Amino acid sequence: MSIHPSILSADFANLQTELDSISNADAVHVDVMDNHFVPNLTIGLPVVKRLQEVSKLPLDVHLMITDADRWAPEYAELGVASVTFHIEAAKDPITLAKRIRDIGSQVAVAIKPGTPLEKVLELLPAIDMLLIMTVEPGFGGQSLILETVDKVSEAKSSIRSRNLEVIIQVDGGVTESNIAQLAERGADSFVAGSAVFNFENRALQIEKLRQLSRAHQH
Ligand code: DX5
Ligand code: ZN
Repeated sequence: MSIHPSILSADFANLQTELDSISNADAVHVDVMDNHFVPNLTIGLPVVKRLQEVSKLPLDVHLMITDADRWAPEYAELGVASVTFHIEAAKDPITLAKRIRDIGSQVAVAIKPGTPLEKVLELLPAIDMLLIMTVEPGFGGQSLILETVDKVSEAKSSIRSRNLEVIIQVDGGVTESNIAQLAERGADSFVAGSAVFNFENRALQIEKLRQLSRAHQH
């Protein structure tokens, strides 16, 4: 079970100190948005490059960008731990997944709440992680969309029945009150923005979330 705080909810003017405040996390979730795939704009290659240079934690880069085939490999080239692209944004997801792996990063595919799970099932043997969006991508601080929780269980049974080793990550609206349920359904990796950064003691929040997820491990 791993906890990945999303720096979307951090202070963008003080990213290095914000990283220090989450040093007990398993990885840092970095949301890249291009104002095309989602109606919001965050950071891109130059900032992720610096984060990769200064971060003691592995970077989990979530690309919410339209031209995934063009840009995702460039993030892998920075040496980040994992690169996640959206199935809705990739023209040739199998080739893209392979390219990212060949460069040396783990690869994940993300699906939006409205995209049926069937769209990613054939990709599972080619990826390390499946990111199930539990809110509409674009903004932090939203409430989890309940219907997406069923997707987690469905994905888990598909992965188990095929003997695959794909991690299930959930992202959006993860809180102390729903993380146990998500863990029970089969999620292994939890992104949390506001549930970590909106608190004074981030380390304590991370530990609380971790304990709650472990207690309900599938
Ligand atoms: C939303 C981003 C999330 C976001 C989560 O599009 O992908 O990573 O930061 O924030 P919370 O945990 O506040 O919903
Ligand atoms: Zn994200």
